[in-house]
Amino acid sequence: MRYTLRVFRYLRAYRGRIIQTMAFLVITTLLGLAPPRLIQGMVDTATRLGSRSVVALFGIGLLCIAIVSALFAAAQRYSMATIVHGLIYDIRNALYEQILHLPFGFHDQTPTGYLISRMTSDMEALSMFFGFGLGNIVGMVITFLGALIMLVAMSWQLALVALATVPFLAMTTLRSSNLLGPQFLGLRRQFARVTAQLQENFAGVRVVKAFAREQHEVIKFDRQLDDFMVRRLKLARVFMIYMPSMGFLTNLGMVLMLTYGGYAVITGSMSLGQLVASQGYMMMLTGPIRMIGWMVINAQRAEAAAEHLAEVLEHERLIADRLDAIDLGEVRGEIRFENVSFGYEEGAYVLHNCSLEVKPNETLAVMGATGSGKTSVINLIPRFYDVNEGRVLIDGHDVRDIKLASLRQHVGTIFQEAVLFSGTIAENIAYGRPDATQEEIERAAKMAQAHEFITRFPNGYQTHVGERGMTLSGGQRQRMTIARAMLLDPRILIMDDSTSSVDVETEYLIQQAMLEGMRGRTSVVIAHRLSTVKNADRIIVLDKGVIAEEGTHEELLALGGHYRQIYDTQLADQEEAG
Ligand code: GTP
Ligand code: MG
Repeated sequence: MRYTLRVFRYLRAYRGRIIQTMAFLVITTLLGLAPPRLIQGMVDTATRLGSRSVVALFGIGLLCIAIVSALFAAAQRYSMATIVHGLIYDIRNALYEQILHLPFGFHDQTPTGYLISRMTSDMEALSMFFGFGLGNIVGMVITFLGALIMLVAMSWQLALVALATVPFLAMTTLRSSNLLGPQFLGLRRQFARVTAQLQENFAGVRVVKAFAREQHEVIKFDRQLDDFMVRRLKLARVFMIYMPSMGFLTNLGMVLMLTYGGYAVITGSMSLGQLVASQGYMMMLTGPIRMIGWMVINAQRAEAAAEHLAEVLEHERLIADRLDAIDLGEVRGEIRFENVSFGYEEGAYVLHNCSLEVKPNETLAVMGATGSGKTSVINLIPRFYDVNEGRVLIDGHDVRDIKLASLRQHVGTIFQEAVLFSGTIAENIAYGRPDATQEEIERAAKMAQAHEFITRFPNGYQTHVGERGMTLSGGQRQRMTIARAMLLDPRILIMDDSTSSVDVETEYLIQQAMLEGMRGRTSVVIAHRLSTVKNADRIIVLDKGVIAEEGTHEELLALGGHYRQIYDTQLADQEEAG
């Protein structure tokens, strides 16, 4: 229970509530022990005294206990629910916060479906355990001991007979939980796989349809579901054997005890009322034993869930503020790389000993073949990843010494892939600055050459874009993300220009948006367009993670190396077009 115990620290906030709930629980359980005694009195009165009024008194007594214990049970349930739901609420929030704060590297390697399972089914397992399991243990122990004491008080011989089947019952229930536990875990894992496939396929539904792979995916899903069902049925078979066995053992115990009690009544060593009462206590004795198995399974489930949660919750936020991290304040916008080497994985560098400098308000174009490390270079500026060797400096400060929020507020990022959220166009543009006024949003949109197409929509800035902005065209999405960065008005702009081809007019608009965006700030742009390249103050060309060439357009053309080659094959025909 190593991992489940760690969840207990979230319970600390509910100490008062827990004491209250336990008090209710103890009262309800103790009250539950009384009725068989009262019934005993009632039966004995009826058979020996024959007094109607005393029987009626016992009846009223039973009714009162029923009412009071119902009230306490209700209070206990509600009080328990507030603890459990509060606990789950706290953990879910902590988990969400942690997931969003974990670095790019974590998200690169963790499938979305996995994280969704953590947020949903693991939470449910914990909620089951803390909601029913924990409270029940206390109630079960009290009930078991209470019933046993009552039985012994009546007749120790009777108590011994009653206990005769209990060890077998306990063994059976433990056996079944040992068998069922791993099966439940397997079932849950399979369910997580099913969820993951759903998540991936719904997100990629366009690709599925475009390649006419619907049937293939349906079959794949069917296979997963089939596996799920097979596991379910296997579980049902275990239940099929164990549930009736436990039922049989319970009944056997009852028969033994009643038979013994029956003889005792005949010989007069026990009253009829006692026999009836002992039956009630016998049921209280076996109930908790039968529950043990279920409790063990619940605890195993909770432990597995807690372990998964710990994996995420205790994952180090490798990229986080240092204690003495600084706020940037005014930024000039100078970027320097000093002998930077970097790799996504241990021992596999994708950048080797790179040094470069971008002066305030300069534009640097980054070029190079695909996979040469362009995106990796610019990822290091807003510290999406940490360097392995060397330093990245902004205005002379190592980026690792700057508060992340401050750093990312001054470094605007336009990703290679245009990601939008479901919401209005205005909300999407204002994503980094939710307090922006309509005027500011429009100014940013104008800079990004997006104002015109936005105002052509009937609802203008209030137009809803679907999930991930799917209702907009690629060129429109791209300009939206430029507008989003423009609104931040960052001193430093990094832009991973996408190569996606658009029509000539859109191409022109995007070019204008980019040039407009770079004006008056330090910009590092991964360039595919001649206009961007020519506009740049300097160009670096990457080759297998090494800065191979550096200079202006003319200088590099004259050099006749990598750049010349890229120019001849990709850029030259843009001369006539532009
Ligand atoms: P294009 O965007 O295709 O033009 O390439 P790029 O120049 O931007 O290359 P990038 O910097 O993305 O990649 C450089 C190298 O790093 C390539 O060999 C990639 O395979 C590798 N790489 C990129 N991202 C990851 C990652 O998240 N994990 C790992 N392990 N490797 C990565
Ligand atoms: Mg790239």
